[in-house]
Amino acid sequence: TFTPRVFSGIKPSGGLTLGNYLGAIKRWVDMQSSDMESIYCAVDLHAITVWQDPEALKNGTRELAAGMLASGIDPEQSILFNQSQVPEHAQLAWIFNCVARVGWMNRMTQFKDKAGKNAEKASLGLYAYPSLMAADILMYHATHVPVGEDQKQHVELTRDIANKFNNDFGVDFFPVTEPVIEGPGMRVMNLRDGTKKMSKSGESDMERINMLDDADKIAKKFKKAKSDPEGLPETVEGLEGRPEAKNLVDIYAGLNDMTPETVIAEYAGAQWGKFKPALADLAVAKLAPISDEMKRLMDDPAEIDRKLARGAEKARAIATPILEKTYDIVGL
Ligand code: ADP
Ligand code: NA
Repeated sequence: TFTPRVFSGIKPSGGLTLGNYLGAIKRWVDMQSSDMESIYCAVDLHAITVWQDPEALKNGTRELAAGMLASGIDPEQSILFNQSQVPEHAQLAWIFNCVARVGWMNRMTQFKDKAGKNAEKASLGLYAYPSLMAADILMYHATHVPVGEDQKQHVELTRDIANKFNNDFGVDFFPVTEPVIEGPGMRVMNLRDGTKKMSKSGESDMERINMLDDADKIAKKFKKAKSDPEGLPETVEGLEGRPEAKNLVDIYAGLNDMTPETVIAEYAGAQWGKFKPALADLAVAKLAPISDEMKRLMDDPAEIDRKLARGAEKARAIATPILEKTYDIVGL
């Protein structure tokens, strides 16, 4: 049996979105106060699987750390650090590259999505991404990983790697980690196309809410968000087959810790002209204090770096003995 421990990470590649907040960070803050030890990470080694401008990456890591701190991740209660400062992640990933099978990687839908039609030109790192993610999680013997639905397949691969490692070497060394996927914010969709997820790397700024967007921007983006002529239904069933409408209701629910049912009960039959401004006001009320605090923290990058360095020390205190034991099991 393993001590319950939570691990999760976000790539510091461009600004944080409302999807990262509702699907990840907000839930991490909630889990922080549970009995479980929690470890949260800016996964910069994952970010470089596609091209990153070096200066922008450094700043992106600080902005992400500021976003997590401003949202309520407390570095005294959780371990908060930057992946590349704990070299054990890359070391364990290599071992997992030798445990995972090529066929498993070939089934990863995110690689297919991200590599696009020209997969031959994708980096080898992008292909091996899930193996590094397994190392991030298993490095700490994490038992629970809160992730968005888009990451479910990668957590399943992490479980496969843990099982195969344990079987191959006849040990019970790595836990078989549970993905924790729940709540209406589990998949925030693109505001212009409700069939795609909201992502920091999307084509147009109008399709996402950035954590640093000001009140006017947020209002404008929700106003222009794709919806349909029907307005809000009388019951949640009326959202079926209407991805854009469902997304706006889910975002409201996620921001206000409500269920979509309660949102519909409050706005049954309302027109978008009434609901969208209410959604924008709610988003501003919830996000403005966070973005103000982010900006304040980003005025002192050296202090963010110090916090991350302290987090890395705490992370290494767990990672080093686990890596040593792994080497020993493998015969290295
Ligand atoms: P992005 O997809 O924005 O590049 P990451 O891949 O770094 O973000 O994902 C970081 C975390 O944020 C993961 O747990 C992921 O599931 C979550 N996440 C990202 N986008 C969304 C979204 N649109 N809805 C819900 N969760 C999301
Ligand atoms: Na993602």
